[in-house]
Amino acid sequence: MKIIMLGAPGAGKGTQAKMISEKYDLPHVSTGDIFRANIKNGTELGKKAKAFMDAGQLVPDELTVDLLLDRISKEDCKNGYILDGFPRTIPQAECLEKALNARGEAIDFAIDVEVPDENIVKRMGGRRACVSCGATYHVVNVPPKKEGICDKCGSDLILRDDDKPETVQKRLEVYHAQTKPLIDFYGAKGVLKEFDGTQEMSKVFADIVQVLGA
Ligand code: AP5
Ligand code: MG
Repeated sequence: MKIIMLGAPGAGKGTQAKMISEKYDLPHVSTGDIFRANIKNGTELGKKAKAFMDAGQLVPDELTVDLLLDRISKEDCKNGYILDGFPRTIPQAECLEKALNARGEAIDFAIDVEVPDENIVKRMGGRRACVSCGATYHVVNVPPKKEGICDKCGSDLILRDDDKPETVQKRLEVYHAQTKPLIDFYGAKGVLKEFDGTQEMSKVFADIVQVLGA
């Protein structure tokens, strides 16, 4: 099963992708997590990506597309995957489609988690993310067992640099201009499924499972 997660920054793509990944035993491929790992490790890619990310802008397609196509060609992706944060532009979606077509493959589901902008800014300030495994928490909604420490791997939890309110606002603008058109793109392909992301996480997940199949 090949799944794409769509939705605004902070809609809960990562939260739901992790749960889908565990239930269906599919790798969770997040371009944001890959960039953050590169930033943490001080790679050239990380240095280039950081400037765009901190400004709330998209990392250019030429730094993103090959990276993603390479990742999904790995052995663990042979039975499918969940793409979280990719594609984010129409050109990215077209490159993905071309690469999949060449292998006789296609995306099965594009899961759109819908949350209005006004809810997003509130969520982001409370988010904490694991520097190592990418697990996501919320200081009120999903607190870790021990403050500042990841339940899953014991690494430190951080407030992401791009979660400052003014950067979140910029990311929302970029989302509406560049990423939202993907909803129509995948709608036209007949694979779009829309979900109300303002509900409790477990309810959003239950709705998704209804569509993907138990
Ligand atoms: P990325 O890491 O993908 O960030 P994003 O799309 O902005 O999305 P987020 O990770 O912020 O939100 P999410 O939807 O995953 O929400 P989460 O589950 O954490 O990308 C970061 C940057 O990298 C981009 O800005 C760009 O610069 C660059 N980039 C990445 N991919 C790229 C690409 N393909 N092309 C170009 N550039 C790229 O949830 C948010 C919070 O809400 C959490 O605290 C969570 O606990 C809480 N929460 C979740 N669900 C609920 C719920 N139902 N109710 C209440 N709280 C909830
Ligand atoms: Mg995320």
